[in-house]
Amino acid sequence: MGKIILSGDRPTGRLHVGHYAGSLKHRVQLQSDSSYEKIFIMIADVQALTDNADNPEKVRQNIIEVALDYLACGLDPDRCTLFVQSQIPELAELTVYYMNLVTVSRLQRNPTVKSEIRMRNFEASIPVGFFCYPISQASDITAFKATTVPVGDDQEPMIEQAREIVRKFNSTYGDVLVEPDILLPDNKACMRLPGIDGKAKMSKSLGNCIYLSEEADDIRRKVMSMYTDPNHIKISDPGSLEGNTVFTYLDAFCRDEHFAQFLPEYRNLDELKEHYQRGGLGDMKVKKFLNNVLQEELEPIRTRRKELQKDIPAVYEILRRGSEKARETAAQTLSEVRAAMKINYFDDMELIRSQSRKYAGQEDQQ
Ligand code: TRP
Repeated sequence: MGKIILSGDRPTGRLHVGHYAGSLKHRVQLQSDSSYEKIFIMIADVQALTDNADNPEKVRQNIIEVALDYLACGLDPDRCTLFVQSQIPELAELTVYYMNLVTVSRLQRNPTVKSEIRMRNFEASIPVGFFCYPISQASDITAFKATTVPVGDDQEPMIEQAREIVRKFNSTYGDVLVEPDILLPDNKACMRLPGIDGKAKMSKSLGNCIYLSEEADDIRRKVMSMYTDPNHIKISDPGSLEGNTVFTYLDAFCRDEHFAQFLPEYRNLDELKEHYQRGGLGDMKVKKFLNNVLQEELEPIRTRRKELQKDIPAVYEILRRGSEKARETAAQTLSEVRAAMKINYFDDMELIRSQSRKYAGQEDQQ
């Protein structure tokens, strides 16, 4: 049997190059890999609401932004199912059943939840929905019997939690669910692309992102302002690669062909790094090179996005049809889940017959 992919993003803003390098580019490539039979890509609006409950308009506005970014990157509705989480009520139902299989202390130990609670200053009062979102994410994955979840490494604890839920469910109720594996990008630099300021993670609230839809001039401006080695002052100074954002981005995006095209004095990134560390190579030259590399990667995405923006109803229609299709798959899994959990009363003729037999004798006695 072919493998099944499920992945997704929260619609809280436009997608940036961190999303792209960490997972989106990989998902687009997987569309051409014949070992994957089905690919489901979900806009996780229900999850976005777990920490934006007071701002539904933000989530609503960003559904189309994420959909445009997906399509612009090359996710193809003929080869993958693009859908919106809230339109699949089976996911909420499954979450309720899974809640019986997870302890509060297990959720408290989830490292991603822990750090997000800190980030959002939720320590004093965590919304229950937010606290439980790893359970909801397990539903997203297992409702489609996904074998493979292509995401960044920050999602590892989520996948582990999903695997535990699957094992617990299957051992309690019988083998219905599939244990998913995480699929990380091969390129380590892609895994957690820092913000342009060198801060750990690209995030909209820190204002340190390069968005996929960004105009060429803005990309250039952002690249030129990127954090490098603060001790590399004169061109002749030896430079350090450690925490040097420009080189991390080059690790993520540049290929040997880019050197022939934009910087023929070097054959590859190793030669460029070597020169930088030795001294005599200025930041400006490296940044100009990175700008060329990024422009080449992002230009086709931006152009396609502008094309797609001309027919917004068509994009909503792709999501509507995808959601319909996704719902069929989730509904099939839910009917197996309900049968395994013995809550399929009205479909179970044997139950009705056996209850009839139980009371049949009593009438005779009266
Ligand atoms: N938690 C993911 C993120 O923040 C989004 C997401 C929701 C997801 N459900 C998922 C990812 C299921 C993979 C599988 O980016």
